[in-house]
Amino acid sequence: MRAAFASTFDADNPLAALAVGDRPEPTHPDDDWVTVEVRASSLNRHDLWSLSGVGLAPEQLPMILGCDAVGVDPDGNDVVVYPVVVDPSDPRGLSILSERFPGTLAERVAVPRANLVPVPAGLPLTDAACLPTAWLTAYRMLTNRGRIDEGEAVLVQGAGGGVATAAVVLAVALGKRVYATSRDAAKRDRIAALGATALAPGARLPERVDVVIETVGAATFDHSMKSAKPGARIVVSGATAGHEPKVNLRRVFALQLEILGTSMGTPAELAELLALCVDKGVRPVVDSVYGFSQVSDAFARLHSGEVFGKVVLDHSR
Ligand SMILES: NC(=O)c1ccc[n+]([C@@H]2O[C@H](COP(=O)([O-])OP(=O)(O)OC[C@H]3O[C@@H](n4cnc5c(N)ncnc54)[C@H](OP(=O)(O)O)[C@@H]3O)[C@@H](O)[C@H]2O)c1
Repeated sequence: MRAAFASTFDADNPLAALAVGDRPEPTHPDDDWVTVEVRASSLNRHDLWSLSGVGLAPEQLPMILGCDAVGVDPDGNDVVVYPVVVDPSDPRGLSILSERFPGTLAERVAVPRANLVPVPAGLPLTDAACLPTAWLTAYRMLTNRGRIDEGEAVLVQGAGGGVATAAVVLAVALGKRVYATSRDAAKRDRIAALGATALAPGARLPERVDVVIETVGAATFDHSMKSAKPGARIVVSGATAGHEPKVNLRRVFALQLEILGTSMGTPAELAELLALCVDKGVRPVVDSVYGFSQVSDAFARLHSGEVFGKVVLDHSR
């Protein structure tokens, strides 16, 4: 079957490690696994990390990329694929599709049947394909980890990204005051159009916030700390620009800040997110939709740093 996969690693130019071609049909490690015919998928920074050799070992190559998919299950139902699989061989006890088990950038993907979540009526497949990784992560950052109900103001760092645009849209939909930084003036205009107050990185906020959404890391972490009000939650799910920031511990204890790590979310949280999208008419921010035959162009777009929101693949083209 046709697939996009990591054939090697290239930390300097991850695009050079991308291969598109024929891969074997999915296999089922257990009886409770099923095969989904993929209709749409979306790219994540995770796919660029994989091509760079982060999170994959050479003996796992070639590895089909992709965490996110919507498709059709063996009974003919439209389903969102929840990408986290129980994996006792991994120290985390789990792995995300494309880490140990082949990913979603293929004609078909195998997953445990319990990982299938129905696509709600009225949600286009190319929108639903954005939700399982970036949007689920952002949803959990705000709700379970950030306890957004207890606060009114949120800061989102690096707001052009997939997780960050999701956090902006969801926090606005939940009625919060949202501040968001981006390095790029054009992206700041687009963030403002989503209902947030857009700022340059490091800019002083008009108020301190209850929740900070951090996926950038070293480049923004000091600003995140300085922007947090006493008792605030700084929720971290990524470190695109460095994972070893300087941390002022005096500020952590004096202001009783919580620095919380998080990864992905649960199937129940994915179902809640889908329901929220339907109930509040929330739709993912889609940067671009490519046919699967243009998957290399889609990766180049993600790698360009110009992306605002999600890069989606339509597998029918
Ligand atoms: N733990 C999990 O479960 C989980 C799930 C999803 C993602 N992640 C991680 O979260 C991060 C974001 O993922 P994504 O898919 O949203 O990535 P993405 O779409 O590529 O977005 C990354 C964003 O980070 C900002 N950025 C990059 N370099 C920066 C720098 N030097 N200074 C300031 N900002 C910078 C950019 O924002 P601007 O251009 O607007 O400044 C960019 O839009 C990645 O590290 C990813 O691995 C983790």
